[in-house]
Amino acid sequence: MTHDEVCQRATQSVQTLSLSVNPRFYPLVHFAPPAGWINDPNGLIYFNQQYHLFYQHYPHSSYRGPMHWGHAVSDDLIHWQHLPIALAPGQQDDVHGVYSGSAVDNHGELTLFYTGHTVVDSNASQVVIRQVQMLATSRDGATFEKHGVIIEPPAHIEHFRDPKVWRDADSWKMVIGVSEHQTGQVWLYTSTDLRHWQFDQVLLKAKPDQGWMWECPDFFPLGDKWILVVSPMGMQSKQFAYNNKFQVGYFVGTFNNNQFIVEQDFTELDHGLDLYAPQTYSGSGDQRIMLSWFSMPETPIPEQPDHWSTCLTFPRIITLNEQNQLIQTPLPAIKQLRQTPQKLSGIVLNDERFCLPLTSDCCELSIEIDITKSDAERYGLMLTFDPQTDKGVKLYIDKQSQRLYLDRSSTAFGPHGHRSIALPDTPTLLLHLIIDKSTCEIFVNHGQATLSARIYADYTANHIALYAENGQAYFNQFCGWPLQSAWIKPFPYM
Ligand code: FRU
Repeated sequence: MTHDEVCQRATQSVQTLSLSVNPRFYPLVHFAPPAGWINDPNGLIYFNQQYHLFYQHYPHSSYRGPMHWGHAVSDDLIHWQHLPIALAPGQQDDVHGVYSGSAVDNHGELTLFYTGHTVVDSNASQVVIRQVQMLATSRDGATFEKHGVIIEPPAHIEHFRDPKVWRDADSWKMVIGVSEHQTGQVWLYTSTDLRHWQFDQVLLKAKPDQGWMWECPDFFPLGDKWILVVSPMGMQSKQFAYNNKFQVGYFVGTFNNNQFIVEQDFTELDHGLDLYAPQTYSGSGDQRIMLSWFSMPETPIPEQPDHWSTCLTFPRIITLNEQNQLIQTPLPAIKQLRQTPQKLSGIVLNDERFCLPLTSDCCELSIEIDITKSDAERYGLMLTFDPQTDKGVKLYIDKQSQRLYLDRSSTAFGPHGHRSIALPDTPTLLLHLIIDKSTCEIFVNHGQATLSARIYADYTANHIALYAENGQAYFNQFCGWPLQSAWIKPFPYM
């Protein structure tokens, strides 16, 4: 079979599977596959007047299998149209998976870089793998021709993946995630023609406690600084930080003469439970827009029996503030989806719950809380709240520890757990939330911190409540918008 035929078959397979998708947890305003498994976003590029999104995909089932690249396009990053599968495994060098990578526009030729993954020995005490960087191109932006291997690793390197390519002043550059001597690192390569690549240098290496492998590097300028985003495997948790299975974080520095000089060490990108393998768009003008896998490796996924698996985070605009902190805010185009707002102000609660006039199936919320005046032991919001059982996902301020908690321990379906951040040192706290069926994204104080988590409640538990325990809480302003579905047809289509 030709590569086109393999892609066509895979596309048919996912179309058939989509007929049996159960939509109970399926998001309405987040990108998700028509059916089957997805993980990382790949090849994010604005090309021929459209945003292209590729993604790690197993089209034949909602459980992980040999990776393909799924493909979708959008005019606004909100309304997506699914396209046929772009890349499928099959060649000798990518027979066990077309792994993550990126895209560039080479004078009108859409050029994809990905990792070809093969399992060399599955019987060894530790499975032996081979990973190489590969190239594929397209003129029409829909069907792709593979051109084989462009970079092989040195003989002693096994984990060598996720090429991210960009155009520099007079050459092309690529960063690759590598594990060498059990140390995560990012290697830099250079090319003049996208086909022949020279190793340049190690861009950055993990310190001893920063992981044995760095996956999915992304490297880009913001103002006069450069940001390196990586997804480390094997970092030790430290108190409130690095508590997920794998981590995501960024370094800030300068990049001159191919040297990345770090000014700000590894900083967690998101403080929730389910965000991994982010990638930013290239070619979208001055704005940096980021999408991430909205899940965490090796974590239970309750929608898998429903014939689809996981989604991506809502597109975020990222900027850098003067303290070298990444600021993340949801794409303003979300406003298109807002329906009639519900507004309240001056809500004072004294050891009680208060149900808001909105349900949490799919909505956006903005709440201002007066921290200085509030003296309750705990106060905040309950999402997916069920007044019968008094249970819900809690987003609350803990007065004693001065922390903001997200706690999903009482949801009907796993995974459970909680995360927290130090309460910002501001008199009021502004919480901006996007809740979409089984997803919840929280933007704190205009995006200075974010917490993202999948939440799986019983369908009857869709109220949103404010609450205060042992004392008073002052909620200055509340505004909530039900969001309309971004899917153009009632359910995903091809
Ligand atoms: C990150 C990752 C990448 C790899 C891909 C395989 O989630 O492990 O490093 O290319 O997923 O699906």
